[in-house]
Amino acid sequence: MPPYQIKFKPENCIIEADAGTSLLKAAAQAEIHIKSGCGGKGTCGACKVVVKSGDPLVLGTGNLTAEQISAGVRLACQTRIRGDLTLEVPPESRLQDHQVLMGDVQKGILPESGPDLLERFGHHSLAAKQRISLPAPTLTTNTSDWDRLNLELRWVLKAGEKPIHIPLAILKNLPEALRQANWDVSVTLTDTDSGMTVTYVEPGNDRPPYGLAIDIGTTTVVVYLINLRTGEIEDQQGSYNKQAKFGDDVISRIVYAAEETKHLEGIQHTVIETINALIDTILGRQSLTSCNISCAMVAGNTTMTQLFLGVDPRYIRLEPYIPTMTGVPSVTAQEIGLHMLPEALVHCYPAVASYVGGDIVAGTLITDLAKGEEISLFIDIGTNGEIVLGNQDWLVTCACSAGPSFEGGGITFGMRAMPGAIERVIIEPETLDVSLKVIGNSLPVGICGSGLVDCVAKLLGAGIIDRAGNFQLGHHSGSERLRAASDDKEFVLAWAEQAGGEKDVVITENDVKNIIRAKGSIYAGIRCLLKMVAVDMEMISRIVIAGGFGNYLNVHDAVQIGLLPDLEPERFEFIGNAAIKGARLALLSQNAWREAAELGRKMTYVELSVGATYMDEYVAALFLPHTDLSLFPSCQNSD
Ligand code: FES
Repeated sequence: MPPYQIKFKPENCIIEADAGTSLLKAAAQAEIHIKSGCGGKGTCGACKVVVKSGDPLVLGTGNLTAEQISAGVRLACQTRIRGDLTLEVPPESRLQDHQVLMGDVQKGILPESGPDLLERFGHHSLAAKQRISLPAPTLTTNTSDWDRLNLELRWVLKAGEKPIHIPLAILKNLPEALRQANWDVSVTLTDTDSGMTVTYVEPGNDRPPYGLAIDIGTTTVVVYLINLRTGEIEDQQGSYNKQAKFGDDVISRIVYAAEETKHLEGIQHTVIETINALIDTILGRQSLTSCNISCAMVAGNTTMTQLFLGVDPRYIRLEPYIPTMTGVPSVTAQEIGLHMLPEALVHCYPAVASYVGGDIVAGTLITDLAKGEEISLFIDIGTNGEIVLGNQDWLVTCACSAGPSFEGGGITFGMRAMPGAIERVIIEPETLDVSLKVIGNSLPVGICGSGLVDCVAKLLGAGIIDRAGNFQLGHHSGSERLRAASDDKEFVLAWAEQAGGEKDVVITENDVKNIIRAKGSIYAGIRCLLKMVAVDMEMISRIVIAGGFGNYLNVHDAVQIGLLPDLEPERFEFIGNAAIKGARLALLSQNAWREAAELGRKMTYVELSVGATYMDEYVAALFLPHTDLSLFPSCQNSD
């Protein structure tokens, strides 16, 4: 059967696809990335497309309304090709380049985590580049090419007992490389505890060696280009993780990867493709080639790390939730297909457990959580809330399933932090008039995590909701903003005409309940760790909040709704993207890299599903701010 022609609008691009191919897959083939929150199960409704012409095979319509179906709307994952088609992919179905949390600065030498961080750990990168001028061999000085180079390298690099290896592929080219360069060469080497390995021999030049710090998030991927000689960030690039087409969260991706071997290969290929696109952009901008990149350090959660390496993650989601590895073996760039020197080493941060990964170890390292006697709390808030508590003597950690609410999932007008997202809400308690702050100063399209925290706190403060999150319609009957909808109660944040859309932007009672469940889950996790080590909340000297959500969070409002502990604002710190900062530090400092490995082993993972403590704490936290108001003294006056 011949392949059919599929045209996508408004791009008007045409691809050929075989009968039976899903529209979701065909769109990916056309480089049009469609949201697929449920990983193609037909349950989330995120992958809507409009069939403009043609007659595809419809396997399911999920929650599409009769009106939508008659207008040609179909779920891309549930619709198959059986003839030529013209499709329109509406903007709301597309994965957008949203605000990627790159770091706090554009350029600089480790400024983000204290100017003395690299100084304290010591600057000794995981790769080096050395210019060497060798005397040409003669009939009387006739040692081999490699012996000649090796001896000089050992001397210049003060290698001591460390062996210097040379891979066969480099050895084969060595005679020509030396002679063509007239014995003046630059040699790039990896440098780890187990020895040094030559990765490139080129004509002598003084260009510095470069490394890549890579943060593989479930949602976004960020790459930094680091000058290994100075420690400076020379460039950076971020994008969404293209794996999102297989599902928004780690569980959907694990399910997809576990279905068949070619799925695992495909999902690994997709993340490599995402990273390579970022690398290529940086290389082009900096007039560099892949031969200039001599090592990479990756920080990601456990599932992302396993998928990056093509290691089957299926047991991560099955009780008793066991990852394949915590300490991750280093691999060469050519083994996984990254655009770097083929023999360059790619290192990954160690994980602690299935749901506490290398990104959390990176955060623990750069925030000095394991230094000193003071007790610190580290919280990374996303779909999973990962928490670490401890000091120099002990560290405990857990992961609680907060759900996607703080990233906009499951919320009527929820969206990620990107232009058009409401990030601040002010509600006038008497009139219920609303003032909004919108990212990018654009028209309000939806509301992101920090906006939701703000909004729930303000709804509570204005008496629009009670402490259980129930809407109080009778209390503000004079306002048109507070109203009963067909199947829920809602509050209008922006009227359709203000929002530039067809619908009013609202928050519903169900949305508020979802936020309460999410914040309850994180607060319950914190309480469980505290109980486990018999530490009072007051004994926590500092609370470090990581992740994109934390960067924009209003601490006062987060305390008012019971997401964060009721402690003085001075104890809170925000560190933004901890994973990329940790990746950069470990790339530049062998001591930091050793300490990261040690931290991974030192952290005690607490499985919250064992025993009743977590569930008891969770139920107690399903109130604003909590059923036990003595835990939130600053909120009692606002009752
Ligand atoms: Fe198609 Fe979820 S309904 S991806």
